[in-house]
Amino acid sequence: MRYVFITGTTGGLGASLLGAFRDDRIISITRRKVQTDIGLYREFHVDFLDEGTLEEEIMDIFGSIDPDAGDEIFLINNAGAVGPVKSVENMDAKGYLDNYKVNVLAPALFIKGFIRAFKPLDAQKKILTVSSGAALSPMEGWAAYCTSKAAVNMLSGVTRAETADFNPPVLSSTFRPGVIDTGMQKTIRESDPKEFPNIDKFKNYKSEDRLLDPDFVASILKEIIASDDFAEVANYDIADYM
Ligand SMILES: NC(=O)c1ccc[n+]([C@@H]2O[C@H](COP(=O)([O-])OP(=O)(O)OC[C@H]3O[C@@H](n4cnc5c(N)ncnc54)[C@H](OP(=O)(O)O)[C@@H]3O)[C@@H](O)[C@H]2O)c1
Repeated sequence: MRYVFITGTTGGLGASLLGAFRDDRIISITRRKVQTDIGLYREFHVDFLDEGTLEEEIMDIFGSIDPDAGDEIFLINNAGAVGPVKSVENMDAKGYLDNYKVNVLAPALFIKGFIRAFKPLDAQKKILTVSSGAALSPMEGWAAYCTSKAAVNMLSGVTRAETADFNPPVLSSTFRPGVIDTGMQKTIRESDPKEFPNIDKFKNYKSEDRLLDPDFVASILKEIIASDDFAEVANYDIADYM
């Protein structure tokens, strides 16, 4: 049996991940009800901006399955937010905090809950956190986003260091999915050009049909996390699969 915990499945890459794992037992964690014809095994609703409630619900979420030895359990930290898109000069504290709650704190709490719930179980336990090229390359207007994705790279790195001696193992890596045709790209194209000087580059990605299909990206993510040598690479990049 394979259990797959996926965050942010209301649209974009997360909705495509539902399709990719449709034959498995999917536990979806979102702030809104998911509109899908795919049978969800369990569904939890929590706004990641409400970190107190998220922290309270984490063990209920991971305690909602009863896996056996030999099962596979995946956690895919997919939910994310690009905004606020503002220069460092104009960004306020709430803007940073809201972004970090969704992009950094929520994945950290999910990883904690996953380890606590399943550490002793003799199952295949794998965590893949969706990162971004923005973790490695500065982009004007994306101070919150770039720093948040750099943070999850390090969050996964620390997790790897702390779990290296676990027996049975808990494996963790990150994934840079490329530029995908999702709601997040629409948000980017609708940014204030004064705050986001690169806006034309992203408008051109769309008009020139250069955005990746989220179903394709989901299929690559599945290939990576399901592989027998998962986590031999610390930070996966979709460019290596195209
Ligand atoms: N699209 C790209 O080009 C691109 C590139 C590199 C990396 N990524 C990464 O890929 C992942 C998926 O992005 P996407 O493009 O599919 O974005 P998307 O279409 O905007 O979807 C984001 C998902 O995150 C959820 N989310 C946002 N804020 C939340 C909150 N406060 N509480 C709970 N859930 C929340 C959204 O739920 P709601 O529907 O409720 O808002 C949605 O399900 C993200 O981690 C993103 O950073 C995307």
